[in-house]
Amino acid sequence: MQYLLNTDLLMRALQKKSGLEAEVLERCRKKELKGWVLSSSIPALYEDLRQNGDDRAARTELKRLLEGIAILSQTAADIHESLDSSGLDFGPAMTVKAVRALGLDGVATSKPETFKGADIKARTPGEVLEILKAGDKSDDRVPLLDIPASYHEVLFDMEREMAEVLRSGHFILGPHVARLEEKIAQYCHCRYAVGVSSGTDALLVSLMAANVGPGDEVVTTPFTFYATAGSIVRVGARPVFVDIDPATCNLNPDQVESRISKKTKAIIPVHLYGQCADMEPLLETARKHGLAVIEDAAQAIGASYQGRRAGSLGDYGCFSFFPTKNLGGLGDAGMVTVSSEEFYQKLVVLRTHGAKPKYYHKVVGGNFRLDTLQAAAICAKLDYLEGWTEKRRQNAFRYDRLLSEAGLMDHVQTPQELVPRHVYNQYVVRVKNRRDDLRKFLQEKKVQTEIYYPLPLHLQECFASLGYREGDFPESEKAARETLALPIYPELTPERQEYAVRVIKEFFA
Ligand SMILES: Cc1ncc(COP(=O)(O)O)c(C=O)c1O
Repeated sequence: MQYLLNTDLLMRALQKKSGLEAEVLERCRKKELKGWVLSSSIPALYEDLRQNGDDRAARTELKRLLEGIAILSQTAADIHESLDSSGLDFGPAMTVKAVRALGLDGVATSKPETFKGADIKARTPGEVLEILKAGDKSDDRVPLLDIPASYHEVLFDMEREMAEVLRSGHFILGPHVARLEEKIAQYCHCRYAVGVSSGTDALLVSLMAANVGPGDEVVTTPFTFYATAGSIVRVGARPVFVDIDPATCNLNPDQVESRISKKTKAIIPVHLYGQCADMEPLLETARKHGLAVIEDAAQAIGASYQGRRAGSLGDYGCFSFFPTKNLGGLGDAGMVTVSSEEFYQKLVVLRTHGAKPKYYHKVVGGNFRLDTLQAAAICAKLDYLEGWTEKRRQNAFRYDRLLSEAGLMDHVQTPQELVPRHVYNQYVVRVKNRRDDLRKFLQEKKVQTEIYYPLPLHLQECFASLGYREGDFPESEKAARETLALPIYPELTPERQEYAVRVIKEFFA
């Protein structure tokens, strides 16, 4: 539950130091409630506290008051628009704007009448505490993702980093990108990381660095996002598909060897849904045949395989910071991790049109640069990634338990963590019968789901010239018919998970 705490409530909490207002603040401190305060409220609170003339004591008390409460900065536009708005006074107009913009549950205020006529919920401290006590049943909508829900934790850090970039006027590469590269390399147990424009470009530039081109073949899975195979075709090479292991939906290493030919240059295993592919046999095959291994770790930042992090297992690790990923940016962004100095140097040159030095082009590269603003936002979020990953894992285990306790295991097969640590970018169940009907039913009950992926790549129209047919990869085709991703984002509450499972039970009843 997220509420904007109005200045009047904070003032009363200060004056009375107890009572319902103070109790609301206490709940925020204990993280049972996500409280926000407008930055414009702070000077008034400070003045109130300083009335007795002790500046230091006022600052200390103000800091304590704001413990556990996120401060929402207002833009010049917020202020101008609130000045222009009719109907409400200036202060409440700013509050309403903020509540709407962040999608908060409402405003907590000791004077709800101030917000009369506004289209947001204005609750007294007593009402907020009542709702907390009853458990938040007011909203049984379960979205697939709730990015604004994470802002309470990170907005402060993100804004600070991004403001630095805005003020510096340096928007391409630069020190913020370098810092993110260093942090990601360290996080992924690699020597280097190269920031690029997307996960797709991470794959593309890695294939270019590995000298994969026309006439070459690259072995990969058909049960993945389009970009894995799309990037192979874009460098002029041919994707050679190998079916998946149904237990993990990852490349089946037993079938790889038979697909290796004289033309094979590389293998791209995908760590689908956040669980690493079985890398040891793949690396062995690659070593035997002198192949490059490019990990598509777009969904798997922080995942491990035998104690080693995704991205450090092959020659190149490709990551995506697409907003739905575990470490999501504010748009498109990506990263390649490597430990070889030679590969690193190649990637850096290819990323900027193959130029070294500037305007002297050694090789044909591309514009694969990472925006500085993206790097700043991602860098701020990286410090929270481990905590979010643990929450995703807890949510996954809770679903496992709830689905089993509901007696649904005959209908729904839960995902298995065969390669720890799974980071659950997606929690994907198998529904043997009536998957699409179940999805429709969940949608009607406001539980969002997704199918990753409804059509395997060997059957995609754009790859028809590769000559594959239906039946070529039966496990991938079966997975496309049976898989269903349930919401798993870190802020997902147990109540919402329970609701989703109740709806599934109702469907099969
Ligand atoms: C497995 C996989 N590979 C590659 C990509 C491409 O990443 P991006 O969307 O950042 O280009 C994605 C992202 O959706 C992905 O899930």
